[in-house]
Amino acid sequence: MSVPLPDLPAASGSHGGIPGSPARPVSIAGVGGYAPSRVMTNHELETMVETSDEWITTRTGIRERRIAAPDEASSDLALKASRCALEQAGIHPRDIDLIIVPTATPDMIFPGTACILQDRLGATSAGAFDLSSACTGFIYGAATATGLIASGMYDTVLVAAAECMSRIVDWNDRSTCILFGDGAGAAVFRPGDETSRFLGFELGTDGSGGDLLKIPSSGSRIPPSPESVENGQQYIQMAGGEVFKFAVRIVVDASLAVLEKCGFTPSDVDWFIPHQANIRIIDAAVKRLGFSPERVVTNVDRYGNTSAASIPLALDELRRDGRVQKGDLVLMVGFGAGLSWASALLRW
Ligand code: ACO
Repeated sequence: MSVPLPDLPAASGSHGGIPGSPARPVSIAGVGGYAPSRVMTNHELETMVETSDEWITTRTGIRERRIAAPDEASSDLALKASRCALEQAGIHPRDIDLIIVPTATPDMIFPGTACILQDRLGATSAGAFDLSSACTGFIYGAATATGLIASGMYDTVLVAAAECMSRIVDWNDRSTCILFGDGAGAAVFRPGDETSRFLGFELGTDGSGGDLLKIPSSGSRIPPSPESVENGQQYIQMAGGEVFKFAVRIVVDASLAVLEKCGFTPSDVDWFIPHQANIRIIDAAVKRLGFSPERVVTNVDRYGNTSAASIPLALDELRRDGRVQKGDLVLMVGFGAGLSWASALLRW
């Protein structure tokens, strides 16, 4: 559903959250990223499965990815990214109202990874929950945070996407294990102003495509058992070609939809941050949308597909190297399992 945000005056003194407070502009006050130090190159993968650096590079654009240490889980990655984002925003953890952790790889099913993060940050005033929307999770989290702040219910929401994809890929399956990597990206959402604000979101789902990308034994349908493990059902299963076609189409459609709702065209976009799954998906969509390549933010070559973390990781790089300037129009588009997709338009 398309959601152009209302253009209403700023709320005053709404901290503590009174439902029904006036809507107000919402922006990102701080961004942080973290990737584990261990680098796995394509050449290392050549020693593990029947593949080659040349095949992986030409089919995906990925040269290397990061792998979490054995004692690192998603909450550890989220903690590091969150601390960077909070420091940049100048926000103390006790001032966070809500923590959302988009992840496909929670530390465990419960307690939520957001609850673990809340404790480790010392975010003593925060509610916390995980968000399950695979690679689309960060934009879904951003839309949720924006809606809650715009309504006046909350002032400060931390969205910390974190993934240990290395724990859910079958390292014997060359068609999937080469694609993914581990990492985290976090953003602090706060009231913005007329010149710096989210302009709109487009969220979509087509559950009929759920079988194209799934982990069959990861919940109540097929509980873990010796048989499920024997069959490798605890790992990602993907119809790569189908997902590829869906991805190119939906990146284009979701981009155009949010731009149109907000009264813009592709030529107005200063920075395009697509989900980092495969450089060929990005290149095909960019060509159809007509963006010039220097306006497209990519890091898939260095991190692979970090699922929900890929967009905030890329946004963090864009901010840190000083490319994005106040007032720039930033378009972000996520897609993934569900099937799901989401786009967001942000005036930085
Ligand atoms: N190394 C060498 N050969 C390989 C490898 C590999 N790592 N993987 C597959 N191949 C082989 C296949 O077996 C096949 O061989 P065959 O012709 O003898 O059967 C051949 O290469 C071609 O395989 P395709 O699957 O047709 O290769 P394609 O060019 O489509 O690339 C890929 C596969 C990279 C997986 C692509 O389909 C893709 O990127 N799909 C989208 C995946 C994606 O984005 N997923 C994430 C979504 S986000 C989320 O929510 C998790």
